[in-house]
Amino acid sequence: MEYKLNAQKLAKLGRVSEAVLREVRPSSEERKAMTAKINTVMGRIKGLAPKGVEIMVAGSAARGTELRGNSDVDIFLLFNKPVPKERMEKVSVDVAKRMVKGRKNESYIVKYAEHPYARILLDDIGLRIDLVPAYKIRSAKEMATSVDRTQLHNEFIKSRLNKQQQDEVRLLKALLRFHSIYGAEARVEGFSGYLCELLIYTYGSFPKLLVAIANAKMPLVVDHSGEGLDPRQTAEKFEKKLVVIDPTDKERNVAANVSDDSLARFVLLCRALLADPSLKSFNGEGYSDLHSGAKLSGIARRLGVGLYAIAFKSDDIADEIVWQQLKRLMNSMASELSKLGFTPLLSLQEVVGTDAVIGFMINDFRKQYKLVIGPSALMRDAAASFALAHPAESVIFRSLESDRLYVVEKADCTTPEEAIRHLLKSVKIPSHFRRGMKLYVNAVPEGHAKMLYKAYWRKTSL
Ligand code: UTP
Ligand code: MN
Repeated sequence: MEYKLNAQKLAKLGRVSEAVLREVRPSSEERKAMTAKINTVMGRIKGLAPKGVEIMVAGSAARGTELRGNSDVDIFLLFNKPVPKERMEKVSVDVAKRMVKGRKNESYIVKYAEHPYARILLDDIGLRIDLVPAYKIRSAKEMATSVDRTQLHNEFIKSRLNKQQQDEVRLLKALLRFHSIYGAEARVEGFSGYLCELLIYTYGSFPKLLVAIANAKMPLVVDHSGEGLDPRQTAEKFEKKLVVIDPTDKERNVAANVSDDSLARFVLLCRALLADPSLKSFNGEGYSDLHSGAKLSGIARRLGVGLYAIAFKSDDIADEIVWQQLKRLMNSMASELSKLGFTPLLSLQEVVGTDAVIGFMINDFRKQYKLVIGPSALMRDAAASFALAHPAESVIFRSLESDRLYVVEKADCTTPEEAIRHLLKSVKIPSHFRRGMKLYVNAVPEGHAKMLYKAYWRKTSL
């Protein structure tokens, strides 16, 4: 079955798109005001940056693809190659420091991505500036840090998207955001702004993109290398089902951060929109965090499962890092729980500021015994060491299944709660999580319930 847009559906999608754009596209006054603010900031930076350093507005604000109300502006300081990396980083932090010095409602923080950059908060004009140092380059071959590519992206997108397509990028970003798959960060593992721009550029328009994705055969390789790459080999090389070759750097998959889950969600979303191009499909299920605790316990009760929430207080470090650590911990606990016989139906995680939480929904039952399957009794040495490891006095009984030895022992943990308490002592937990660690069983306080319900909603709404 092929997903198509007939004239009637296309018209309906057009009306929905217009309605969404009215919300998410900045008005021309808003854009003018933004440009004026950016120009003022550029002037201030110019007065502080060393001679020979080029200042460039990059990102969506420069490309006309920003969403309304998005107050973050990416400004790059472009240095000439001989400048050492450390010097370049120091200069940008220095510019930020001098820029806000002695000013009310202005501040800066140093952020760490691949290399440090400065985030400047100008509260009075409501702008957040990311001041990023990079090397001035003309092609990816000259690239020395991965952010150097951004200037090439800027040029590529600015010269290729027309006004209509810029709006369609906004539409695509809004759609993905409504469905929690906008952004390349670890928390989302979704579609970056640049990827959205490239997708609209590749397929020409929003409706064409929907049709292409709804019908796509995986792996899907969007080849902008100009070399006629073999799709299968390329997908294997990048180890991804979706590969979008960066037109400015053929060694880079712009979709590298898109998880299989996010890709599948996008495909389902495109199909749903083509089947029913309504505002409801576009906006997705409404989300409300009201009465999260009650909603969660309702779900757990209906399923007959227990809800186990482990709350942590993390250090105030990069959100990206806390998220990864929490995810690793959640996955290792889930797999250990499985080994103990309590496979979670759902594993959830969420981070808000320095609050982190993991939640498990687990079938509620009491586990009395543990089965340990051994080798065939006919294998001399293996059978002997199994017998040695499980002597008669330490097990409930020993037996055979056909020729295979097994023993039955008392379960290590008889309930999910016991298992979790045991794991909290035995699994490796990042030390800063240990402070304020707390286990809630079924009754989760509203603050953490809100976090978990959000994670539940993300995971269970397609
Ligand atoms: P942003 O994350 O701010 O994206 O990165 P954006 O395109 O401006 O989109 P929104 O509207 O703010 O969400 C700014 C630029 O930095 C480069 C891209 O060129 C991007 O446009 N970039 C960013 C990367 O190359 N890789 C990344 O992982 C992030
Ligand atoms: Mn941006």
